[in-house]
Amino acid sequence: MKIDDVKKICVIGAGNMGHQISTLCALNGYQTTCTDIMEEILKKAETFVDQYLPGRVEKGKISEADAKRARENITFTSSLEDAVKDADYVIEAAIEVLDIKRKIFTDVSNMAPAHAILATNSSAIVSSRIADATHHPEKVINLHFFNPALVMKLVEVVQGPHVSEETTEISMELCKKLGKVPVHVKKEVNGFLLNRILFAIFNEAQWILDSGVASLEDIDNACVYGAGHPMGPFRLMDLVGIDLCYTMALEDFKKSGNRADLPYPSLVRHYEKGEYGQKAGKGWYDYGKK
Ligand code: CAA
Repeated sequence: MKIDDVKKICVIGAGNMGHQISTLCALNGYQTTCTDIMEEILKKAETFVDQYLPGRVEKGKISEADAKRARENITFTSSLEDAVKDADYVIEAAIEVLDIKRKIFTDVSNMAPAHAILATNSSAIVSSRIADATHHPEKVINLHFFNPALVMKLVEVVQGPHVSEETTEISMELCKKLGKVPVHVKKEVNGFLLNRILFAIFNEAQWILDSGVASLEDIDNACVYGAGHPMGPFRLMDLVGIDLCYTMALEDFKKSGNRADLPYPSLVRHYEKGEYGQKAGKGWYDYGKK
């Protein structure tokens, strides 16, 4: 297969990441199907597209014709089979639970064309833990977008030991076609590349807070006004999701057995209360109504 053979993309999961990845694919000329088992989330994703595209036109970022084309390129369905049956490239952005991902990949492998590449947007689960649930492990790869996926240019293309050169090359090329900057991560390590760096910052920030050295706001201000970060670590954790930060820290701990890798107690407190950040209306900060 070659990059030009990729014409239809299926995005599985219409949540935090999936709705933006779908919109991105549609905007860049791909026939895109976005699927989710939850009708309510699917509807929310469709509403997002219907507001986002006119908003881009109003801002002068795209033409009306571009917006119309993008809208025509994207469809929403709760049927996984309908969504993947013609797909050349599948991007899974479902919940970060291994058993659920393995089941999705088995189903997709049975339903999608044999040539299709099956990517996971997972940041916590490496594709080698999923690939053996499919007919073509060499076509299963991590394609890791960053939140918000319509804005952040980086995509990590993580080549596990089972992934073919062809799958990696097409994935790198696809990212470029989507206007992104792909980086090739040559080994499956926890956190891949950027999250290793970001999570080191998150851990330091939590240590400073829990030690009573400075307030949450001042730690965020320090990073924004002293280091030029677009947002401080606590705002960023709220953006990516406290649940995801918790899961990733726990995955780290499970691998290393090192108690220092356990999620910070203050993070656990937010997690246990369901204060997952922006999407929940409350995390480190209070966002008022959800
Ligand atoms: N969806 C789509 N577009 C959005 C958006 C969203 N949720 N939020 C902002 N934007 C767009 C705006 O439309 C605007 O676009 P244009 O300039 O083209 O009009 C642009 O982003 C800037 O937006 P704002 O002026 O409203 O806000 P800002 O300048 O404060 O930027 C931000 C917001 C882009 C989120 C910026 O604060 C930022 O870059 N933050 C850091 C985000 C980051 O580090 N992400 C990586 C997280 S780690 C991760 O995702 C991986 C993981 O596995 C955990």
